Amino acid sequence: MSTKSDKPEAAKANADRVLIFDTTLRDGEQCPGATMNFEEKLEVADCLDALGVDIIEAGFPIASDGDFEAVSAISKRVKKATVAGLARAIFADIDRAGEAVRHAQRGRIHTFVSTSPIHLAHQMRKTEAEVLEIITATVTRARNLVEDVEWSAMDATRTSIDYLCRCVEAAIKAGATTINLPDTVGYATPEEYAGMFRAVRERVAQSDKAIFSTHCHDDLGLAVANSIAAMAAGARQIECTINGIGERAGNAALEEVVMAMRTRRDLLPYDYGIDTTLLSRASKLVSAVTNFPVQYNKAIVGRNAFAHESGIHQDGILKYQQTYEIMTPESVGVSKSSLVMGKHSGRNAFRSKLKELGYELGENALENAFLRFKSLADRKKQIYDEDIEAIVDEGIAHMHDRMKVVALTVIAGTMGPQSATLTLDIEGTEHTVQAIGNGPVDATFNAIKMLVPHEAKLDLYQVHAVTEGTDAQAKVTVRLEEGGYMVTGRGAETDTLVASARAYVYALTRLMVKRQKTARVQQAI
Ligand code: KIV
Ligand code: ZN
Repeated sequence: MSTKSDKPEAAKANADRVLIFDTTLRDGEQCPGATMNFEEKLEVADCLDALGVDIIEAGFPIASDGDFEAVSAISKRVKKATVAGLARAIFADIDRAGEAVRHAQRGRIHTFVSTSPIHLAHQMRKTEAEVLEIITATVTRARNLVEDVEWSAMDATRTSIDYLCRCVEAAIKAGATTINLPDTVGYATPEEYAGMFRAVRERVAQSDKAIFSTHCHDDLGLAVANSIAAMAAGARQIECTINGIGERAGNAALEEVVMAMRTRRDLLPYDYGIDTTLLSRASKLVSAVTNFPVQYNKAIVGRNAFAHESGIHQDGILKYQQTYEIMTPESVGVSKSSLVMGKHSGRNAFRSKLKELGYELGENALENAFLRFKSLADRKKQIYDEDIEAIVDEGIAHMHDRMKVVALTVIAGTMGPQSATLTLDIEGTEHTVQAIGNGPVDATFNAIKMLVPHEAKLDLYQVHAVTEGTDAQAKVTVRLEEGGYMVTGRGAETDTLVASARAYVYALTRLMVKRQKTARVQQAI
């Protein structure tokens, strides 16, 4: 049982401290194709804790046993951050979330209910009075399990201010310590969103008892702008994700919100606990485990974010860095390369290079990456940082695979039909088949299909060169669709066909995990 007195320490001690609530593992993982497995979630949680986020929303414990286990394991291992579990406004959800965060040093239940007329009429089929009763009952239930309870008004930005104020008042009265007002459908503009926070904070009795939080979706590309506007109106928690991943167009990008505060301290004089030099590393890890590439021109973490192409810009930068740079690459963890790697480089140099690039791998992962680096160095004249990043990211993504490409021989050229002989290791046993196809990629994919029969549709097949030159590594992305679900796999190799096979097999592995998870959710409903 808990008392109802306290606000989280950080916010109580410093009124200008903005709490960073990361929902990469919950809202981020909800986006089509971004499913992470158990080990990947733990890895991301460790990275977020090291980054200094205040709250990690680790998952939705009632959704599946896998989600429950992940939230529970993250609660046990995270050292600094509060760990939150999401719950609908249903007692069973709240109890399950409470159970999942029970072992956290600081655990939070985050419960939500829709408040907008459109959701009440068409989704919930409940009256405003009924929803008010639900808020009181569910927040009270959560407060009986943990001290730290967040309540969210889903679709707040399409809710009338009068009714929203009554809901917030009920939640605070029942003991909510954080009030989140999400722009669930990404509809608000910055002034409007800030106005909502101002009105609610002014009109609700005892609004100072809770921390107000933003949660913005990016359907109109305004998620970061809206989050920042709300800070000026008193919001002191920002919900966001690494690389901005999330439902539909995604959530506010953590790295953008934080670097806006760091770079424009003159206008945004708020304190935060993030070590910005780890942002690049966090971005790469999340991109690798979700298989969501970061667009080249993405702010802060895109590979072109600090690249200057035009002569005038290059000239200016060489004379004085601030002529065209408002923040340094080093401030987000992009370091200037000092170690040149080649086929004579040993383990120690490789380890130092990884450190320089922001990676800290365990012994097994390091050995695996080193062997792949050596093999690449035998085939490729120059090894660039991007090559090493591709090797490590692919290694992280494939570490826990149940199926692996062992060997591939392809006959291609003008004298068709093209054929592929493929050996796959499936859960420890090797299987070999030969298939023909309309081109070498088609033959390779047909061979995979013979060994792993499935009905998934190939939704995307994309090849990028990691660096320049004909010996460059190819980075292949494969997206498969089955029954409305999308999964993505990536592979990197100097041989485009091997990279293609790896990407396809990886996507299939993810599809199997997704199928099992869906079956469990359906059983739970
Ligand atoms: O977008 C949203 O409203 C949400 C809630 C569950 C907070 O993700
Ligand atoms: Zn959301």
